[in-house]
Amino acid sequence: MKNLKDTETKDRLDIITYGNPVLRKRAVEIKNITDEIKKIAEDMVSIMHSAPGIGLAAPQINKSIRLVTIDLSVGEKKEDLIVLINPKITHEEGQDTAEEGCLSVPGINENVPRSFHLECTGYDLTGKEKRIEAEGLLARVISHEVDHINGILFIDHLSPLKKSIIRKKLKKP
Ligand code: NI
Repeated sequence: MKNLKDTETKDRLDIITYGNPVLRKRAVEIKNITDEIKKIAEDMVSIMHSAPGIGLAAPQINKSIRLVTIDLSVGEKKEDLIVLINPKITHEEGQDTAEEGCLSVPGINENVPRSFHLECTGYDLTGKEKRIEAEGLLARVISHEVDHINGILFIDHLSPLKKSIIRKKLKKP
């Protein structure tokens, strides 16, 4: 997910954008945490930080695997970095609507309804099981990134009219 506090987000060549079919695929589960997976995670963190973004999913760098990185502090606080393998949302509650943008859908920010509170499980890079309880922005980013590995983009949550306006906008060169 885009960092909305930063107005200078640039289009990055290493981030896959709207129209590429990889963004619409259901990404595959990770069976073994190999050196390759660790390298992809490392690349994702650095791409996310320099974008700058607060979340990134592997399909956005053309890897159709269930891996997401999240950092609300955009590299400011080490303890904020979350790398989640095979994330699964286990509980959702409440409703919250806020503005959202995506590094793969440049130039579009829209209000998106999401759950206010959620619980999520997954694994870290050492294979340890992680349980995360999140609210507000963190819950929103987790939901946005888990959508990505299921082939869903934030604009899919908008009204049909909004969606068609955005689609036209995105087709323009
Ligand atoms: Ni996104």
